[in-house]
Amino acid sequence: MRAAGRVVAEMHQAIRAAAAPGVTTLQLDRVARDVLSSRSATSNFLGYHGYPAVICASVNDEVVHGIPNERPLQIGDIVSIDCGAIVNGWHGDAAFTMGIGTIEADAQRLIDTADRALAAAVAAMNSGGHLGDVGAAVESVVQMAGYGSPRDYCGHGIGRAMHEDPDVENRGRRGKGPRLEPGVVLAIEPMLIAGGRDDVMVLDDDWTVVTVDGSLAAHTEHTVVVTDRGPEILTRL
Ligand code: MF3
Ligand code: CO
Repeated sequence: MRAAGRVVAEMHQAIRAAAAPGVTTLQLDRVARDVLSSRSATSNFLGYHGYPAVICASVNDEVVHGIPNERPLQIGDIVSIDCGAIVNGWHGDAAFTMGIGTIEADAQRLIDTADRALAAAVAAMNSGGHLGDVGAAVESVVQMAGYGSPRDYCGHGIGRAMHEDPDVENRGRRGKGPRLEPGVVLAIEPMLIAGGRDDVMVLDDDWTVVTVDGSLAAHTEHTVVVTDRGPEILTRL
């Protein structure tokens, strides 16, 4: 899973470098495909329930599952990129949100909070702890900042398949839920809604999840393993 995670991190690095005003999300999908093939890895997104790309690219009020398209990114946009890889049958999955050119302070605060929520969740992935610690960590960062988080979407176990048990919700109670122990691997994925509401809707393309109030959204994700020496992020270089 370290090998798969490294490929995902390389996809992120290449996409971060390529994303700029005037670039389309379809071009970013191409960048991700090139990394996959250069590493002899395959995509766990492409063909998943018929999904047509190797990345999800969700712009501004899109929360998750945006399909890459021909619309050029513009200065001031924020874009969430989610992608995964399979190496030797093992899966990695991760997401980040970035600004395109100069973005508004509010948008930057949303992105920074999403990064902090993910970091807090990772830090909670300790042997002897509980699954609820992870959700509680996300929830507390999101709530303190006054943001919302969709109830209908969550993280997941990951391994031989992209989506395994358990669900990893972005809310929870510390000390509740299954025990975390060495070898447990979770894809933790905070999703933040600037307007503070928790509800979202799916567009007519049957994929793109958007905020109901039109406010900005951010999404971050890492694949993380519990070890006896603490959490290890697999999808980071
Ligand atoms: N990466 C998403 C997740 O974290 C899954 C995307 S499914 C796809 O669970 F079909 F859109 F690729
Ligand atoms: Co995921």
